[in-house]
Amino acid sequence: MHEPFAAVDVIRAKRDGGRLTPEQIDWVVDAYTRGVVSEEQMAALAMAVFLRGMDSRETARWTGAMIDSGERLALHVSRPTVDKHSTGGVGDKITLPLAPLVATCGAAVPQLSGRGLGHTGGTLDKLESIPGWRAQLSAVEIGKQLDEVGAVVCAATDTLAPADRKLYALRDVTGTVESVPLIASSIMSKKIAEGAGGLVLDVKVGSGAFMTSLDDARALARTLVDIGAAHGLPTRALLTDMSTPLGSAVGNAIEVAEAVDVLRGGGPEDVVALTLALAREMLALAGHGDVDPAPMLASGQAYETWCRMISAQGGDPEAPLPTPAHVHVVEAPQTGVLTRLDAYAVGVAAWRLGAGRARREDPVQATAGVRCLAKPGERVEHGQPLLELHTETPDAVPSALAALGGAGGIGAEAGGGDAAVEVSDEAPDHPPWSTTTVLETIRA
Ligand code: URA
Repeated sequence: MHEPFAAVDVIRAKRDGGRLTPEQIDWVVDAYTRGVVSEEQMAALAMAVFLRGMDSRETARWTGAMIDSGERLALHVSRPTVDKHSTGGVGDKITLPLAPLVATCGAAVPQLSGRGLGHTGGTLDKLESIPGWRAQLSAVEIGKQLDEVGAVVCAATDTLAPADRKLYALRDVTGTVESVPLIASSIMSKKIAEGAGGLVLDVKVGSGAFMTSLDDARALARTLVDIGAAHGLPTRALLTDMSTPLGSAVGNAIEVAEAVDVLRGGGPEDVVALTLALAREMLALAGHGDVDPAPMLASGQAYETWCRMISAQGGDPEAPLPTPAHVHVVEAPQTGVLTRLDAYAVGVAAWRLGAGRARREDPVQATAGVRCLAKPGERVEHGQPLLELHTETPDAVPSALAALGGAGGIGAEAGGGDAAVEVSDEAPDHPPWSTTTVLETIRA
């Protein structure tokens, strides 16, 4: 096949700070997918993009080229479809109550999800702790379940944006993950190819998130929303706090149990608040803005949809979830106020206990994780249990404790220390913890 460009010219153009033409972008993504542009050449181009950036037109085109590298899922569903994507956080089990809740309110939610890598958990890993539950569905099964139940949470098919799968693996080993245009085009190519009629993004901000500063998170959210607009997909983004874990459960089975509590009308306040905030945005995009999701959650109606969603994929929603063989309790070092419970540290601790994986092919422990028994701002007594560390492999406990304690162990002073979990004598005048879950909303 005659190739209209040479990869080295495209690399040079971006290296020197130029704007890539639509034709160059279409070609380079397609030729990389075909193996004509080599891994070395794409690595150089990804680094040039990382250093020089891409403008909104380049980013939208790059996203389109990645969508065109595979197939679009053709969803023939009678209800309006709407999806949610989270940029990933610690204790982020929101998809689990959210998808059945939005389905209960009249929309259909096709939620193609991933597995966890590093300190953030994966929705599929969580759901696989339910006996019998199956992540892999065909396109026909997805459509049937969407029509009959209104919600599907399953693995993405191999034909969805294959260029992204290849490029993401390359970025992972070449220090080019943290680039706004590359992250945004990666996320949006998969979401647009999935074919939902609307998309709500939960862009996390804080130590447990990809973006640790509000400005960076805002820039990512704006880029994501602009790509949606350029591709005709109504998209909104919420910026939400990820400085401390969401809810009290971090892990796999333990997060499913907390999601079930929420679906039965209970559960932690922050998880309920974020589930409802995202549900309201999704329903607005689906044309059901007049439906209030709160009573559907509080009454247990969404729990009925959850049971049907889990059963449709072979799972037993009433089966007991697995419990850990070992539980190590971390106690409050003094009486006072919990001033710090760092999301990243808790995520790393859960990962080291066995809840997450270091390589894509590693297995995860269904029962491993961390239960947070107090939230920042709460008063605690000396010796009161603060955290439970759950694992099948107790020799992992010391490294989980090291992640939580920094160099100084669980801290007993406010400020100054490097501990990720800190109790101080008095509540500070200006709380260092966030008191709201949703920080900002970004619309097209
Ligand atoms: N998630 C994705 O799907 N892609 C990225 O590049 C980063 C996070």
